[in-house]
Amino acid sequence: MSLRPGKRRSGTRAAAGPQAGPGRAMVLGATGGIGRAFVEQLAAEGHELLVVARNRQRLEELARQVHATYGVVVEALAADLALDVDLRHVEDRVRGDARLEVLVNAAGLASWGRFRELDMERELDIIRVNVIAAVRLTRAGLSTMLPRRQGAIINVASLAGYVMLPFCATYGGTKAFLISFTEALHEELRGTGVRIQVVCPGFTRTDLFTRSGASTAKMPSFIWVRPETIARSSLAALKHDRAVCIPDARFRVLSVLLRLTPRSVVRRVASRLFGDFTTYRLDDHDSPRGEPRDSTAVPSPAAKRAPETRGQ
Ligand SMILES: NC(=O)c1ccc[n+]([C@@H]2O[C@H](COP(=O)([O-])OP(=O)(O)OC[C@H]3O[C@@H](n4cnc5c(N)ncnc54)[C@H](OP(=O)(O)O)[C@@H]3O)[C@@H](O)[C@H]2O)c1
Repeated sequence: MSLRPGKRRSGTRAAAGPQAGPGRAMVLGATGGIGRAFVEQLAAEGHELLVVARNRQRLEELARQVHATYGVVVEALAADLALDVDLRHVEDRVRGDARLEVLVNAAGLASWGRFRELDMERELDIIRVNVIAAVRLTRAGLSTMLPRRQGAIINVASLAGYVMLPFCATYGGTKAFLISFTEALHEELRGTGVRIQVVCPGFTRTDLFTRSGASTAKMPSFIWVRPETIARSSLAALKHDRAVCIPDARFRVLSVLLRLTPRSVVRRVASRLFGDFTTYRLDDHDSPRGEPRDSTAVPSPAAKRAPETRGQ
C-alpha cells in the first residue's frame, strides 16, 4: 500500500517525487507500542525508516529486527525531545531530508496524580515532548515537504484531548492542543499536496500507563485496543486525507457523545472513572525526570540538560 493518494482535492495533485519507491518515513517514539506499530506497517510498505526515541539500546534492537523482517534500511537516532539540543538536532535531520515522505509524531509521556503534588519538571517535559516537539517537528516537516508538494505528517494525540482529565490534567491539555493545532493546519494545507492528520487513540495496550505511574488493574479488558489497530486505521485514513482519525468504532461513538454532553457532566464522570480505574499512586511514579524504571532505563536527562535549555 503506497501512502501516495490516487486522487487529491481539486488543484492539489502532487508532483511526482524524485524517487521511484516510497520515500523515507520518520517515527518519533518508535520504540513505544504505538510508534513501533507505525514502524512495522511503514516498513511493510517498503519505506526506509529513521526511528527516534531516547533509549539507544531499544532503538538499535528495533532497527535490527525491522531490517531483518522487512529488508528496508532502518536508521536509529537516539534523542531526548525534551532537551533543546536534541530537538534541534532532530529538526535539522527533518529539514535536511529531501526524501522525507512521512513524519509520525508518536513520542509522548504522561503522569497521573493530583497536579499540585506532581513533579513540576516532569509536567513541563510532558508539554515539551507532547506539544513543543510536535509543533517544531511539524514545522520542520512542512519546510521539507511543501516545496515538493508531497508528504504527510501524523500527530498522535488521544481521545483524552476531547475530555478534561482530572488526575492527568497536563497530559489531557497537551492532547487537546494537538487536536486543535493539527485540524487547523489541515485546512491551511488544502491545495498544497501535503497532508496532515491527528490520530486519537482510546485505551491502547502499551507501556504508557505503567510508565506514567498509573495502575491499569481495574480497567476492564474489553476497553483495550491493540497498537497495530491504531497504526493501521491511521495510515488507511491518511490515504483519504482525513484530518482526524479515531480508531475503533466504540471510541468514535464515545467521541461524539463527549462532544454532545455538557462539559460539567463529562468532567464529573471523568473524575469518577479515572479515580476508580487507575488507582493513581502519588508515591510511585516514574522517576521525576521521566526515565523508565526498567532495566533499559535511559541516562538521566537532568545530567544532559543545560540550564539555558530549560523552560522553553
Ligand atoms: N497507550 C494509550 O492508551 C494511548 C492512548 C492515546 C494516545 N496515546 C499516545 O500515543 C503516543 C505513543 O504512546 P504509547 O502508548 O505507544 O506509549 P509508550 O509505549 O510509552 O511509548 C512512548 C514512546 O515515546 C518515547 N519517548 C518518551 N519520552 C520521550 C522523550 N523525552 N524523547 C524522545 N522520545 C520519548 C518512548 O521511548 P523512550 O522512553 O526510549 O524515549 C517511546 O518510544 C503518545 O503520544 C501517547 O500520548 C497513547
